[in-house]
Amino acid sequence: MRAAPRVGVVAALHQELAAVLARLPHERRQQVGGRDFWLGDWHGHELVAVLARVGKVAAATTATILIERFGVDRIIFTGTAGGLAPGVAVGDLVVARSFLQHDLDASPLFPRHEVPLYGQSRFAADSAMTAALAAAARAVLAQRDVALGPQALQEFELGAARVHEGLLLSGDRFIATAQASQALRAELPDALAVEMEGAAVAQVCHDYGLPFAAVRTISDRADDSAHVDFMRFVQRVASRYSVAVLAHYFRAMPAREAMMRGCAAPATPGCSG
Ligand code: ADE
Repeated sequence: MRAAPRVGVVAALHQELAAVLARLPHERRQQVGGRDFWLGDWHGHELVAVLARVGKVAAATTATILIERFGVDRIIFTGTAGGLAPGVAVGDLVVARSFLQHDLDASPLFPRHEVPLYGQSRFAADSAMTAALAAAARAVLAQRDVALGPQALQEFELGAARVHEGLLLSGDRFIATAQASQALRAELPDALAVEMEGAAVAQVCHDYGLPFAAVRTISDRADDSAHVDFMRFVQRVASRYSVAVLAHYFRAMPAREAMMRGCAAPATPGCSG
């Protein structure tokens, strides 16, 4: 049995992975499937950090390698998302409670959004990991000038920030028109935000019985101005939030306690952090 759970930390963009790697000073690198996997230790947790790249296929491949080749016990995804629900504003944090592929449509053979032969369209995040990530996100926002610095707050005119928990949509499409985001809102009114990977990782984790959770910074409102300043926002805000939330999460979750809660082995259904 390992002394600590092994956590796969997946980032969607280079800047976010770089911010995590800066916290893993003695990491080792292994290349599998054309990707670099970085193994290190953070607050007593064994981490395997990796850049998924963008989109559902890349995310599913990355999750499968993490499980099959690196034997991770759980996976956390961090990145950005476009806000959909009213009140989900740029600079807010969203912690997923469930995931759905908004671009999956095998109708009329199966109901729209249902993953064929799974009998479900929504995949749940691990509830204990989600609660711990949400607590970490709230703690970070309570002191966000520490995480971001005053310049970033001014530069992006960030108002009071909130943590939201609920449904995250994923699809192989960057949503960048008011019409497209309005269509998603009309179809899936309880969706908080949209991104391009989470539901794919959730499906892989479901297949393996592995706990999964995700935290995303809202970088845009998934409308016509969604692309404006996107990379600068990732660098100055989202990657800083990601690393601060993860640091808080790992610090607050003693590795021994995580092991005692029964997350020692992969494929432990319902195992929670
Ligand atoms: N990630 C961040 N913003 C997004 C958007 N508008 N659409 C899809 N993925 C995103």
